[in-house]
Amino acid sequence: MEDPIICTCNEITQSEIEKAIRDQKLKTIEEVGDATSAGTVCGGCVDDIYLLLEKINGKVDL
Ligand code: FES
Repeated sequence: MEDPIICTCNEITQSEIEKAIRDQKLKTIEEVGDATSAGTVCGGCVDDIYLLLEKINGKVDL
């Protein structure tokens, strides 16, 4: 299955982020950054991380 890179700065794929969100019950962009390093360089992927959090959790805490 296709597994796009969400964070090109750190080469973090969608499945890595989704797994971290599920396994570690991440709720915020910041928590995803701490867990995976996604979103911690240029910030350009933060909107995509937001969408993944929303998809998995149904909402996003800011
Ligand atoms: S693309 Fe994710 S921090 Fe730059």
